[in-house]
Formats: sequence, structure tokens, C-alpha cells
Amino acid sequence: MLYYDNVLSMNGLACASCHIQQVAFSIPGPGPTGMAVPSHVNLGWNPEFGWAGGEKMLDHVALADLEEGNVFLNANNDSILVRLTRHPQYPEMFRKAFGVDILQVQLAERKEYISFALAQFMRTQISGDSRFDKFMRGEAGGNLSASEYKGYGIFFSERGDCFHCHGLPLFTNGSFNNNGLDSVFRAGNLGRFAVTGDSADLGKFRSPGLRNIALTAPYMHDGRFQTL
Ligand code: HEC
Ligand code: HEC
Repeated sequence: MLYYDNVLSMNGLACASCHIQQVAFSIPGPGPTGMAVPSHVNLGWNPEFGWAGGEKMLDHVALADLEEGNVFLNANNDSILVRLTRHPQYPEMFRKAFGVDILQVQLAERKEYISFALAQFMRTQISGDSRFDKFMRGEAGGNLSASEYKGYGIFFSERGDCFHCHGLPLFTNGSFNNNGLDSVFRAGNLGRFAVTGDSADLGKFRSPGLRNIALTAPYMHDGRFQTL
């Protein structure tokens, strides 16, 4: 409910404004920081979050969005305190979910409970029963066309070499790699280096999971490719 509700924001946005369900909880264009919006799928298994892996806990990702002046929600104390306090349902829902009086706890703690609730929801955004999964399990409905089957052969062999970074079952190795997009690095494409300060991490980005990939154009961290 919070994910789809703009109750927390001062700019009218909800999480679902940029993470749009119809396109795998992504957005068909650049995000507010110039970075492409990653889809929300199988996040519960991600070891790190964001294109450069700046955050380790899904429970904490939304905390940054709940900062005042932040381009995501621009939530301020007023929006979090007053709107939740006056809301007919949220206080009771927080009591049921966490056993707390959301109106009595400190602001920092209140943000945490909001973030926990959002993280629990995001853990339910799962892809594991696609046509491809049925194909792998040899089930009805899991037929690949001739050209899809050729692509499968290339993807999972040394010919295409995709599987090393986009392996099963999540189509990611959960790690950071440089797939050779750029040879010159400046603000915006520093990648993992921006988090670790290690020059070996220049231009490395999280190898994204490729589930629902047909829905999530544009592609790469900066959305430079319009089509798959
Ligand atoms: C204005 C657009 C916008 C809004 C609103 C927004 N997000 Fe995002 N979200 C993004 C962008 C852009 C990124 C990628 C950031 C990066 O890595 O540079 C992102 C990344 C994330 C990630 C990391 C995903 C991954 O694959 O690592 C999570 C989780 C997330 N957002 C959850 C939320 C939640 C929860 C809310 C609501 C509290 C929210 N977002 C609101 C644009 C938005
Ligand atoms: C060395 C690891 C590696 C290999 C091998 C690799 N990729 Fe990737 N792939 C990445 C990384 C890292 C990114 C994100 C790069 C960025 O955004 O700057 C990416 C991004 C993508 C994207 C865009 C995802 C999105 O959400 O925008 C697609 C599609 C993709 N790869 C498909 C493939 C295919 C098909 C192959 C085989 C021909 C392949 N990859 C081989 C690491 C790899």
C-alpha cells in the first residue's frame, strides 16, 4: 500500500511512479539522476543494491528515498509525521505488522518501519515461473521457438559467453563487472569505483538480472540503448 501511495512524498511521487508495475517495476526513460531505473524483480536475493552497489540491505534502501530534499520522494518530517498521523489506516496497519505505535516512536525509527514494510513488499516481487522456467523444467507451456532455441544455445555457451555474468537461476552472478561500454571514466560512469575507491572497480556495474528484460528499455546503467 505504501509503495503505491504518495502519502510520504512532498513531490507527489510514490515508489510506483518510477517503479511502474506494467514494465516490471521500472520506467521507460531516464530516472531523475540520469541513471536508468532498475526493475524490481527477485530483489530478496540481491547481495547489493543500486547500479554501483551502494547499499547492502534491502531494508535500508528506502531510507535514502525518505530524506528531505531527495529527488526520489523529497519526504520531509511533515509528510512522514502529519500525513501518517492523520491517515485513517496506517497507524493500525503498523501496529498489526510490527506491534508498534508508529505515532509515538522517534522519526528515525518511524522511517525504519516504513522502509521495512516496503522491503517486505519488494521481496514478493518474484519471477520464477516464466515460459523459460517451464522450458527448463520440461513442463507444458515451456516451448521455445527455433530462433529462441538458437539464442539459448549462444547465451549459455562460450560462443555468446553471457552466462558467466548472467547465469541461472537469476540471470546474474550477483557481482560487479565491466562489460566494456566505455574507456573514459568521469562522473556518471565511475561505477563501483564511486563506492570502493579502488581503481580496479572503474566502470564496473552490477551485472543486472535479465528477467523481464523485454519490458525494461532503455538498457544499461545510463539507459544508452533504446532497444534490446
Ligand atoms: C523519481 C524516481 C524514483 C522513485 C520515486 C523511487 N525510485 Fe527507486 N530507484 C530509482 C532509480 C533511478 C534507481 C537506481 C539508482 C542507482 O543505482 O543509481 C532506483 C533504485 C531502487 C532500488 C535498487 C534496485 C536494485 O536493483 O538494486 C530499490 C530497492 C528501490 N529503488 C526502491 C524504491 C522504493 C521502495 C521507493 C519508494 C520509497 C523508490 N524506489 C522510489 C528511481 C526511483
Ligand atoms: C563480464 C560480465 C558480462 C558478460 C560476459 C555479459 N554481460 Fe550483460 N551486462 C553486464 C553488466 C555489468 C551490465 C550492466 C552494465 C552497465 O549498465 O553499465 C550488463 C548489462 C546487460 C544488459 C542490460 C540490462 C539492463 O537492465 O539494462 C543486457 C540485456 C545484457 N547485459 C545482456 C548480455 C548478453 C546477451 C550477453 C552475452 C552476449 C552478456 N550480457 C554478457 C555484464 C556482462
